[in-house]
Amino acid sequence: MKILIKKTTTTSVKTPCLIHFVSQGQPKPQFLARFDQGSANLISAAQQSKEFSGKTDETLLIHTGQTEGPARLLLIGLGKQQHLSLMRLRQATSTAVSVLKQKSIAKASINLENLPIHKATTQQQVQAIAEGLLLADYRYHRYLTTDSGNSKSLEQITILTADSKTTAMAHQGVTAAEAICAGVHLARDLVNAPGNLKSPEFLAMQAVAMAERNGIKARLLDRSRMQELGFGALLGVAQGSTRPPYLIVLEYQGGETGSAPLALVGKGVTFDTGGISLKPAEKMDEMKMDMGGAAAVIGTMLAAARLKLPLNLVAVIPAVENMPSGTSIRPGDILTSLSGKTIEVLNTDAEGRLILADALTYVERFKPKVVIDLATLTGACIIALGNHAAAILGNDDKLISRLINAGQRSGERLWQLPLWEEYASQIKSDFADVKNTGGRSAGTITAAAFLQKFADHYNWVHLDIAGMAWEDKGNAGAPRGGTGFGVRLLIDYLRHESGTL
Ligand code: BES
Ligand code: MN
Ligand code: ZN
Repeated sequence: MKILIKKTTTTSVKTPCLIHFVSQGQPKPQFLARFDQGSANLISAAQQSKEFSGKTDETLLIHTGQTEGPARLLLIGLGKQQHLSLMRLRQATSTAVSVLKQKSIAKASINLENLPIHKATTQQQVQAIAEGLLLADYRYHRYLTTDSGNSKSLEQITILTADSKTTAMAHQGVTAAEAICAGVHLARDLVNAPGNLKSPEFLAMQAVAMAERNGIKARLLDRSRMQELGFGALLGVAQGSTRPPYLIVLEYQGGETGSAPLALVGKGVTFDTGGISLKPAEKMDEMKMDMGGAAAVIGTMLAAARLKLPLNLVAVIPAVENMPSGTSIRPGDILTSLSGKTIEVLNTDAEGRLILADALTYVERFKPKVVIDLATLTGACIIALGNHAAAILGNDDKLISRLINAGQRSGERLWQLPLWEEYASQIKSDFADVKNTGGRSAGTITAAAFLQKFADHYNWVHLDIAGMAWEDKGNAGAPRGGTGFGVRLLIDYLRHESGTL
């Protein structure tokens, strides 16, 4: 989809469809009144009959019946003005895209004469709109051999601005959105890739290819190297699969040489069967998304490079497949992690924390300013927060609140859970330094308490994105499948951190 920006007077613009955002309960703008006459009071009629009053995601598509100006008008409800946010605006734009696709309207324009949100900058609002467009346009079509049933993709959207200052700001907003959404789309592609294609090696190759194209340094640690170094926890998980594990290390140098990097760690279980503690058959297909954290980290690296963020980043991704076999680890096995700590494996399905333990130890060597890990770690997180927020826990309250703010701005929301030391008593083992499950209660917290034992030497936060990495039903902004959750959140945080926003 091409996004153009054009300075023009809205009413006279020639376009197949003019998109206009309407807040609930706001007086009808002058320019709509003009179209109302042209189309025999269709807008007023729709409003009077309560078919369109500007409620959230309400839509009204009408032909103007005029030979001059726009051929159609598409009104999109934004809801009440006092509840308006960038998140609403982004969603409303995605809703507009779904209407256009449904009607096979290939080109349209968006009226931005009046920006709807008073509290946000022009750049922020245009970025949100452009994100809404690009996110809604995403499809995973690698395995579709015919295009039947797939509505046509949108060709071109023109954002219409009133003056040259707005135009300049709009360009910045669109450019940022394009860089960020390239990262989101890559993350979605990686999550949507099926398990037969997506081995740890495949994930590693995708990361390396992305890095090479974008001036990012890439390095892989293979099984024998990890054996030498002592990655006992990661290798324990990997030993049940015939497909070899990799530790993927990416380094982006956008800041001064020698300035401490920010580190991103992403869980990369390319398929999680549960291992010997086998998962039930129902919905096991969705466990191809158990590398959603890795995908978010790879996507973020891409977006950061495209945005040329002036800071240094290091990404560490443990990539393994969790399979049951004659060579798998068993419940009761004890692994010696890279840190030297021993781990009793009570449940082979709690594999994410095992591979993250070694990755979190490994990342120490980069002397990072902060470490942020993202992982589809616990089903308990979905019980706690559903599909509307990721859980955030960590040892640095300032870092936690900065990320929560980034979540608020980006719409990829976070909710903090406590990490009081009392929870660590649940993962005490009789036979090793720690055990990998903490019982039924507070599953998300005890998983984080486990990770904390390996993240002791730096400022660290953990994001449990189990409920957010996968969209089950599909909505206007994301079809069923991988969401790319985390990319927009992290980029918002990093742009603030680097002072570029
Ligand atoms: N990958 C799963 C967590 C998960 C579940 C993510 C559902 C997304 C959707 C993780 O490896 C896992 O299996 N966790 C177990 C931990 C338990 C055995 C302590 C869980 O949550 O059941
Ligand atoms: Mn598991
Ligand atoms: Zn898992």
